[in-house]
Amino acid sequence: MKNLVLWLPIALLISACSDRGHSTLDIKSPEEKVGIRFHLDAEGKPFYQSLFNDDLVMDTSYLGFDLNQAAGLKGDFEIIGDAQATFDETWEQPWGEQQFIRNQYNELKVSLQEKQALKRKLDIVFRVYDDGFGFRYEFPEQENLKQIEILDELTEFNMTGDHTAWWIPGLEADQYEYLFRKTNITQIGLAHTPVTFRSADDVYISIHEAALKDYSSMMLTANGTTRLKCALVPYSRTEESKAFIAAPGITPWRTVQLASKPGDLITSYLILNLNEPNQLGDVSWFKPCKYIGIWWEMHIGIGTWATGALHSATTQNTKKYIDFAAQHGFDGVLVEGWNTGWDGDWVKEGGLFNFTEASPDFNLPELSAYAKSKGVYIIGHHETAGFIDNYERQMQDAFQQMETYGIKAVKTGYVEHGSILNNGKYHHGQAYIDHFRKVIQLAAQHKIAVVAHEPIKDTGERRTFPNMVSREGARGQEYNAWSADGGNPPDHETVLPFTRGLSGPMDFTPGVFDISIPEKPDNQVNTTLAKQLALYVTIYSPVQMACDLPEHYEKYPDAFEFIKK
Ligand code: NOJ
Repeated sequence: MKNLVLWLPIALLISACSDRGHSTLDIKSPEEKVGIRFHLDAEGKPFYQSLFNDDLVMDTSYLGFDLNQAAGLKGDFEIIGDAQATFDETWEQPWGEQQFIRNQYNELKVSLQEKQALKRKLDIVFRVYDDGFGFRYEFPEQENLKQIEILDELTEFNMTGDHTAWWIPGLEADQYEYLFRKTNITQIGLAHTPVTFRSADDVYISIHEAALKDYSSMMLTANGTTRLKCALVPYSRTEESKAFIAAPGITPWRTVQLASKPGDLITSYLILNLNEPNQLGDVSWFKPCKYIGIWWEMHIGIGTWATGALHSATTQNTKKYIDFAAQHGFDGVLVEGWNTGWDGDWVKEGGLFNFTEASPDFNLPELSAYAKSKGVYIIGHHETAGFIDNYERQMQDAFQQMETYGIKAVKTGYVEHGSILNNGKYHHGQAYIDHFRKVIQLAAQHKIAVVAHEPIKDTGERRTFPNMVSREGARGQEYNAWSADGGNPPDHETVLPFTRGLSGPMDFTPGVFDISIPEKPDNQVNTTLAKQLALYVTIYSPVQMACDLPEHYEKYPDAFEFIKK
């Protein structure tokens, strides 16, 4: 049933009540496909509703905060100002799916102030596009609200039906590396965003966030209802507050993408549009590329990251990969296990990783010169095991070293089992997010592109920092080598473009041509050759790995030609 019928009585009710203290404000997208109605209820509590093609897609959805050691910022408000604006620009991506992106929206800024007591102020800004909307909270500078400690963000997304949802669980031990669950909304426990929904009327909806910085990551809970609510990732093991903001300050954008066809979610650039423009200027030093690497051989167990007889990152083996890359037109060669720190139980002892000291059988100066002579560059690897303090102490030197040796990209890693890092901070909490920004900005200073594994989810940072080129942030190819449940089921990658893929480029590392797994003779990678090739088309990333071993590609020159071209 269409929901239009529901919107009209609500509209009538609101206007009938407007002289009794209720307030509403409406804003529509440029072509009026999407609409937002903002309200204050009789108790001065803010909420919104939203329309897509004249149908209600989100009903009464409350907004606000519970604060630590202060009254909640969620009611007793009056509207003290509202401003509407229109915006239309076309900006150029230095690299990406599309060269020019149109950023066209109508904006409503609602300024609220508490009527009693502290008279604290809160602004809510809505940007309404034809493919969805975003909104964020802004805390203006004021006397009675300076340091804001957020216990809970109360933002709701009150869906109009028990839609089908594709989601992964929040705060689990393997971060974002889960198979997507397909359930109704009422069965969602705690989910990371983006979450994708399909309504009975075939409206496709994705809820996520944009420009996540100086704040904690948003998850969603449903609690057996269709009223989804924001659940922030906690800050640390000991802190009760989940996020800390100083006024004047802003939250990330909460985003809702809306489409009549699932593919339209993929070609929506709403999240990029809600990020700040490029702050790095000319980034022509980064070119989208294909890479191979010393990687799959460790995952299938025929090589090791640790030193010893099977150590893969030796000078000799790296030269073999460099030769192969040069011969077949690949730009980068990833080398994992090149540095010291891998020899013990590195997941537990990540504080031992050294990011400038090569293992004795890996000659970095010689290899960087060799790579350069062949027109190839090495892609560095910084596995931190989530020991971010250890990494931050060494980062300056490590990035300087990479620049010195012509290393143009780094793959970072944060392997860790559980959702709390060794320093007590949460894997997707505000401190971790701050760490990520530091890495991106430091790398940019050295003209280095970042490909992050076990990352914070993508919220469109690549617009502002185009050296943040790709991430994992999902159950990737590696699970086919070693996961206890027999690898990724065949349909996994059909779900990824419509879920994880909506947040940004993904380093899935396709290209397995030899499906055998020597360590597990009764097992194999669940794929066909054609499917591995198709992944290069369906999973977007400006850096794409051909993850298999050179000798496996040599067996299938025709299929390999597809990757080369
Ligand atoms: C997990 C990453 O996803 C994988 O690509 C990498 O090889 C290992 N960590 C070791 O850093």
